[in-house]
Amino acid sequence: MATDAGNPIPRFPAGFLWGVSTSAHQIEGAAGEREPSVWDAFTAGPGRVKDGSTAEVACDHYHRYREDVALLAGLGVDAYRFSISWPRVNSPGGLDFYDRLVDELCAAGVRPVPTLFHWDLPAALDWLERDTASRFAEYVSVVAERLGDRVTKWITLNEPAEHTLLGHALGVHAPGRKLLFDALPVAHHQLLAHGLAVRALRAAGASDIGIANSHGPTWPASKESADTEAADFYDVLLNRLFAEPLILGEYPSGLGELMPGDVTADLKVISEPIDWYGVNYYAPTKVGAPQGTEIEFGGITMPAELPFSVRDVEGRPVTDFGWPIVPEGLTELLTGFRDRYGDRLPPIVITENGCSYEGIDDQDRIAYLDGHVRALHRAVEAGVDVRGYFVWSLLDNFEWAEGYARRFGLVHVDYSTLERTPKASYGWFRELLRAQR
Ligand code: BGC
Repeated sequence: MATDAGNPIPRFPAGFLWGVSTSAHQIEGAAGEREPSVWDAFTAGPGRVKDGSTAEVACDHYHRYREDVALLAGLGVDAYRFSISWPRVNSPGGLDFYDRLVDELCAAGVRPVPTLFHWDLPAALDWLERDTASRFAEYVSVVAERLGDRVTKWITLNEPAEHTLLGHALGVHAPGRKLLFDALPVAHHQLLAHGLAVRALRAAGASDIGIANSHGPTWPASKESADTEAADFYDVLLNRLFAEPLILGEYPSGLGELMPGDVTADLKVISEPIDWYGVNYYAPTKVGAPQGTEIEFGGITMPAELPFSVRDVEGRPVTDFGWPIVPEGLTELLTGFRDRYGDRLPPIVITENGCSYEGIDDQDRIAYLDGHVRALHRAVEAGVDVRGYFVWSLLDNFEWAEGYARRFGLVHVDYSTLERTPKASYGWFRELLRAQR
């Protein structure tokens, strides 16, 4: 892949936050020391995770968090985005773990940035139920009371779009439902949970609150109206459905009418002001008219009834996961957001960006990250207010339905010994951070 490697990466604005991300279910392990989540139940079913693995041990971060914080300190990041497991907080001693982790991070000079929900819902709860949003806000209050003296930046939810689509519409993630458009209440209840959580956090005295939403440009397969209409529809689902209720206080394209009940009052809660808006960016998607048949795409079976079909982005190198590498898609996405929402768009933080590759001398990952950091800088130059960038991920980890087959880490994990080995990309990111100081 072509890069500008050799030319230094331009400087980002003063105070720009550099970090790495992980999530609880993907790294913690110690599953026996918390109540079950929907992911434990889902994983137990046959054929759900490609390599038949579970997250019971994962990276055993629960027991090795000190070593992992030392890796963060060695990397020199400003901040660490991790997630708090709601099932663990519900279990005796669970919150103590996050207390210790936050202390360790603060002592190492790394700012803790917890995500309060990254897909591991307690197994007894269900996002189809409106009440789950209120239960979430109660849990958030408990966490904020305990950690709010040291945590100064918060994320409510991770990618409610993927959790709705993959988990409830297509059934390839937990809880494994295949409801297609009947999954829309799951979107509304998560958005409501976000708004209630913002209120709960503010009531506990917290500030600097955001969300991590997944986004990417949607490219029509051709200029034919059947393709552009299908692509517009997909764009609404991926880029607008979870953004506009927060940013504009309204659902796009009349989708509010498909949500459960009268959502007018809920939209006031959902649009509770946030301090910044998190974007997880991996790749653009090419979308065309439905093809009348089931489509296999990226290991996901898309039913024929969908009003769009996802196609290959041709002529691009791909990562080991098969995802196209399109750094300028990040510039396009962010300038597009700025043009669409203007002054109403909160400052942006890239809460995830990364790629799956094998090997410890991961020059491909370096090229991917180098290209994307430069593309991000181009968005800054174009006037987008970007305040931070987090690499996904610190460690190789349990990649959901792909099991351990996909490695996104800057640090390699040997799953038989749990030994951590920094990859070439870890050294590259450390040098980038030094040069930015
Ligand atoms: C998720 C992560 C995941 C990553 C790579 C994001 O959608 O937030 O949990 O590991 O993408 O697939």
